Amino acid sequence: MNTPVEGFSKLSKAEKIDWIASNFTNNPERTKQLLQQYWNPDKEVQKVHDEFIENTVSNYYLPFAIAPNFLINDKLYAIPMAIEESSVVAAASKAAKFWLDRGGFKTEVIGTEKVGQVHFIFNGDSSKLQAFFTEIKPNFFKSTASITKSMEKRGGGIKDIELRNLSDKIEGYYQLHCGFETKDAMGANFINSCLEQFAATLKTEAFEYAGFNSEEKDIEVVMSILSNYVPNCLVKAEVSCPVNALNEDGIPPKEFAQKLARAVEIAKVESYRAVTHNKGIMNGVDAVILATGNDFRAIEAGVHAYASRNGSYSSLTHAKIENDVFTFWIEVPLALGTVGGLTSLHPLVKLALEILQQPSAEELMEIVAVAGLAQNFAAVRSLVTTGIQKGHMKMHLLNLLNQMGATESEKQQLVQYFKTHAVTNASVKEALEKLQS
Ligand code: MEV
Repeated sequence: MNTPVEGFSKLSKAEKIDWIASNFTNNPERTKQLLQQYWNPDKEVQKVHDEFIENTVSNYYLPFAIAPNFLINDKLYAIPMAIEESSVVAAASKAAKFWLDRGGFKTEVIGTEKVGQVHFIFNGDSSKLQAFFTEIKPNFFKSTASITKSMEKRGGGIKDIELRNLSDKIEGYYQLHCGFETKDAMGANFINSCLEQFAATLKTEAFEYAGFNSEEKDIEVVMSILSNYVPNCLVKAEVSCPVNALNEDGIPPKEFAQKLARAVEIAKVESYRAVTHNKGIMNGVDAVILATGNDFRAIEAGVHAYASRNGSYSSLTHAKIENDVFTFWIEVPLALGTVGGLTSLHPLVKLALEILQQPSAEELMEIVAVAGLAQNFAAVRSLVTTGIQKGHMKMHLLNLLNQMGATESEKQQLVQYFKTHAVTNASVKEALEKLQS
């Protein structure tokens, strides 16, 4: 039976590895070797990674790939993607090529507002609280002047502070609901620092406010934190072409367009399908978010909340056929940064941003939305024509062969063989066994 460890974070890296290897793994020597195998040979690079988080013992690799030929607003991009799932990058590249020949992707940033809230309890007369808030509102801006100064120089800052009464939901519960513009930064630290100062100002001002009785003066701040729900930090990406330009093997263009639109329609009204439909979108979104050092958990949380904003979970993409033109688009909330955070620290993130030609946060929103739309187009296109498994299993073939311990020459022969045969777990096993016997 293992015992709890005291002061684990204070142990050296080697001591941490010793401890985990000898207490939790069957072959401590092998564990140590494996963890070390993934260290970067350049000590400086390794140190950068070690210091991102606490208790680092090794690195965890994900493939870093490029999906080329994305024409976005008439500019050509090669999009870096970090993702483990086979066929995602191939699908993105295929969709990019498809739309490259049909005018490319058009995008528009609809809004860039980030949100933060101070949640507090006020026991008293809500109209007095409203009068107090109106009177002291300028003090929230004054008390955060030192925090907002450099953000304001870059064109950002606090956009608005609103008092929200939610006491019908929880007794005495109110919010300062605040909008921020953080330009090219994701802005989490900026927003949280402002919010904590708002909370302090709120408490002090309430305490000194002559119009409050003693209970009203005693505001209880519950918490101050940004919200990852950013419905006004929104971007749209779109593709369109005449229906008769939607040529696809073995299927008339009109029928293909209708099948695509029907699949999207289903994801709009049926949540089980919508979740998987949107998962496919997030294959593209998350891969670019990760490659560019942004916070994919924040994006995931905000995107799925947005997909449910009308009361039931629904598709993030839309499709229509009007006047013989097929249009397919996505609207998605994305709070992203291209400065701060990992963007200047992680060597591959820096490279990803260089490959994307140093985008502003707004440009990155557009690129990420395009990656999501392209991924969805590729998935729905396969689903309504050949089915997803054909392409997916082709891309997964090498993983299967590696799992089955195939040699390099066996892999080469079987890759050839499966160019004309259906890939399934069973068929690959059988073909490998046959080759080996
Ligand atoms: C698999 O990662 C994603 C898909 O399931 C998406 C979809 O069904 O639209 C193919």
